[in-house]
Amino acid sequence: MANEASFWFLFAHLLLQILKANAKVPAIIVFGDSSVDSGNNNGISTILKSNFEPYGRDFFGNQPTGRFSNGRIPTDFISEAFGLKPMIPAYLDPMYNIADFATGVCFASAGTGYDNATADVLSVIPLWKEMEYYKEYQETLRGYLGNEKANEVLGEALYLMSIGTNDFLENYYILPKRSSEYSVEEYQIFLAGIAENFITELYQLGARKICISGLPPMGCLPLERTTNMFNGSDCVEEYNDVAKDFNGQLQGMVMKLNKELPGIQLVLSNPYDILLDTIQDPNKFGFEDAETACCGTGLLEMGYMCNTINPFTCSDASKYVFWDSFHPTEKANGILADNVVKNSLAQFL
Ligand SMILES: *[C@@H]1O[C@H](CO)[C@@H](O)[C@H](O)[C@H]1NC(C)=O
Ligand SMILES: *[C@@H]1O[C@H](CO)[C@@H](O)[C@H](O)[C@H]1NC(C)=O
Repeated sequence: MANEASFWFLFAHLLLQILKANAKVPAIIVFGDSSVDSGNNNGISTILKSNFEPYGRDFFGNQPTGRFSNGRIPTDFISEAFGLKPMIPAYLDPMYNIADFATGVCFASAGTGYDNATADVLSVIPLWKEMEYYKEYQETLRGYLGNEKANEVLGEALYLMSIGTNDFLENYYILPKRSSEYSVEEYQIFLAGIAENFITELYQLGARKICISGLPPMGCLPLERTTNMFNGSDCVEEYNDVAKDFNGQLQGMVMKLNKELPGIQLVLSNPYDILLDTIQDPNKFGFEDAETACCGTGLLEMGYMCNTINPFTCSDASKYVFWDSFHPTEKANGILADNVVKNSLAQFL
């Protein structure tokens, strides 16, 4: 009797170990824009960079890296939560090589969008080019680990996509081309179609565990509130409504692809509610200011305008939801990442 009980105990224990080993994510692979870019823009010819102080002043070694924050970005925290490195290196950063990229790599580029025309605005890396880099990475990884092991890593890896805000705020609402071609509803359909094609191609290349992020309440970014200065600096409701609509479109696309592509585990992460929560009730999360950013006056500065000559930068970024006029602080990024891990990625842990 005792023997039988201990046999079943051992058996269950082993089974659990096997399941756990199988469930483990060996690498995190990132596509997107500045919300997740860890430094790919440093080496390209664009004016949209952040590899100088005070960016990164709370990062490891107080180093500016090209992340658009005072410290880590959400994907760094997610990597750590999965037991991987506490930061995901940028693919184009010459400091890193395939040994580093084997457990995490970032192809994201600040300023880019789903729409090719968005990447053109500030000459950054278009999404299709991020895919080309990914294909190159697959080949290098196969050379490094051998085909069998590399394919296992690529198939078990977690793929994170975070992109889309710039299509609206840097392109559609600023430049005449897309807004004369498409209504905002049509533009959303156009973008969601690009997202669908991108995910389908990733799947065909072997990806299975994929998380696509929806849009934040982008009307509440300090830069957008500044344009609303004569109306009490409120959040721009129209932009928030577009974000909510677009997130609904993405949700529909996610359900569709989960039915169509056997074995895919596609999830939507939605930063909208948690970020709006921190903005509407900053004290609850330990913040003091959710309207203006830490860097400079907090109304306009990002990129080169956010620099050490600017005398107004705050001394403690952890009191702020936003680091510059377009991007959250490290503390807010940690809250966002926590939320994503709990609500969207728990099944992959
Ligand atoms: C974006 O540009 C690439 C490269 O020129 C092209 O292959 C792709 O079809 C374009 N995407 C759209 C949606 O036009
Ligand atoms: C200005 O504020 C009012 C009341 O909060 C709102 O109804 C209106 O849409 C706002 N206008 C703009 C341009 O955001």
